[in-house]
Amino acid sequence: MNQKNNSPISFKKVSFSYDKAEVLSDVSFQVDSNEFIGIIGPNGGGKTTALKLILGLLSPSKGEVKLFGKSPEQSRIHVGYVPQNMQFDRSFPITVLDLVLMGNLSHLTFFGRYKKTAIDKALESLEKVGLIDFKDNHFNSLSGGQLQKALLARSIVCGPKLLILDEPTANIDPGAEDHIFSLLTKLQKEMTILLVSHNFSKTLQNVDRILCFQKEVSSLKPTEVCEHFALGLYHSPLPLEKKHD
Ligand SMILES: Nc1ncnc2c1ncn2[C@@H]1O[C@H](COP(=O)(O)OP(=O)(O)OP(=O)(O)O)[C@@H](O)[C@H]1O
Ligand SMILES: [Mg+2]
Repeated sequence: MNQKNNSPISFKKVSFSYDKAEVLSDVSFQVDSNEFIGIIGPNGGGKTTALKLILGLLSPSKGEVKLFGKSPEQSRIHVGYVPQNMQFDRSFPITVLDLVLMGNLSHLTFFGRYKKTAIDKALESLEKVGLIDFKDNHFNSLSGGQLQKALLARSIVCGPKLLILDEPTANIDPGAEDHIFSLLTKLQKEMTILLVSHNFSKTLQNVDRILCFQKEVSSLKPTEVCEHFALGLYHSPLPLEKKHD
């Protein structure tokens, strides 16, 4: 019998180009339930593009992307997302609780108010990220690290099965970064996590597996990554062995 593949993410021979040049070429990989995956790779390596394919914001030129055995559009309801460089109008007059509630728009009542269950879930998410005492503060008063935690709370408020984060710890201090990583390792018990990061050491310490995107993808154990870097994985093209004259 042909068994259904219910893997949280499956890429089968996926290629993608915005114009002529291929950004992703023949990429295949699969992610298991409750795996914590770190995505690394050079600038322009195709990391954000891969996330957009997973979210169904882009479609592959070739191949197939499936989430939980279905199309990304059908599975979107199970996915929480913290985008790269999220831009906000900082003067927008909302509280931290409002910001988190916005991750749960499906819970609005007919009158545009949030149901009590949605408010309880938002408070629970703020508790998880350690921001409960800030719930009534204006979100524009949060520091960079606190804002990232609020965005994390917002992305988990609808109880996703898959959480995707695109460089959530860029521009924040090491203490706040450690806190976010420890939150993610706790959340891993409840969901599969895919994290793009340029902080290799923190990523390697915390994830189960690394996917390195450089147009193609390599799947590596965290312990294998250092060796690959020593070999110049990021250098394109790989330096050829020097000829001796
Ligand atoms: N909307 C777009 N239109 C055309 N080209 C794009 C578009 N978005 C990205 N690209 C190109 O696709 C390539 C991959 O971009 P992508 O954003 O996926 O890289 P990345 O690995 O996320 O890089 P970074 O580490 O800088 O975030 C780059 O060469 C980029 O210039
Ligand atoms: Mg990117």
